[in-house]
Amino acid sequence: MADRTLNVMCICGSPRRGSYNRMVMNALPGLAPAGMNITEAPPFSEFPLYNADVQEASGFPPPVQRLADAVRAADGVIFNSPEYNFSIPGGLKNAIDWVSRVPNQPFAGKPVALQSAANGTLGGGRMQYDLRRAMIFLDAMTLNKPEIFIGNCSTRIDAKTGEITDQQTVGFIRQQLAAFAKFIVQHGPGS
Ligand SMILES: Cc1cc2nc3c(=O)[nH]c(=O)nc-3n(C[C@H](O)[C@H](O)[C@H](O)COP(=O)(O)O)c2cc1C
Repeated sequence: MADRTLNVMCICGSPRRGSYNRMVMNALPGLAPAGMNITEAPPFSEFPLYNADVQEASGFPPPVQRLADAVRAADGVIFNSPEYNFSIPGGLKNAIDWVSRVPNQPFAGKPVALQSAANGTLGGGRMQYDLRRAMIFLDAMTLNKPEIFIGNCSTRIDAKTGEITDQQTVGFIRQQLAAFAKFIVQHGPGS
């Protein structure tokens, strides 16, 4: 395993108070392997709608620069996102679009892992394949397996406490985080 701490940053795709994806994200530090430090990314809630005219007139808004810098500094990035209408939530896609235009775009070569919780039975799988595609364009290094699709999430996560009650799901997440640690060491910058 790594001979240094791996700093992993999570980007939550749901702005909702009481978001199941945020609950999963909040559970990750307790499920991470030794040596992996997991924190939340700076928010993208203040990002304007992407418009190249805005970028050209006034540069990158400070919250965009903050998220871009945080992605660049992280050893790895985990997306915790719901699926909206079979795809990436618009706010998250807008955030990725902004960050992707920052010079020396920070997803290039970045180890990325995907997790989704959704009320549908597929658990956000269609969103993940679209997100994976966006990460391909950005030359990110996206972990293939294990995949985390938490379907029927309201039956697997306690909305009151935020606890992931389904132990099989907990086990899959532990396995993915352990695989992600190895992946970062093998494929991340400086490996
Ligand atoms: C605009 C919108 C679109 C949605 N589309 C899907 C969908 O395509 N597939 C799915 O499984 N659930 C869909 N849902 C239901 C979400 O899975 C559910 O609201 C989930 O709790 C959202 O994640 P969150 O709890 O992290 O906010 C949709 C919800 C919204 C608000």
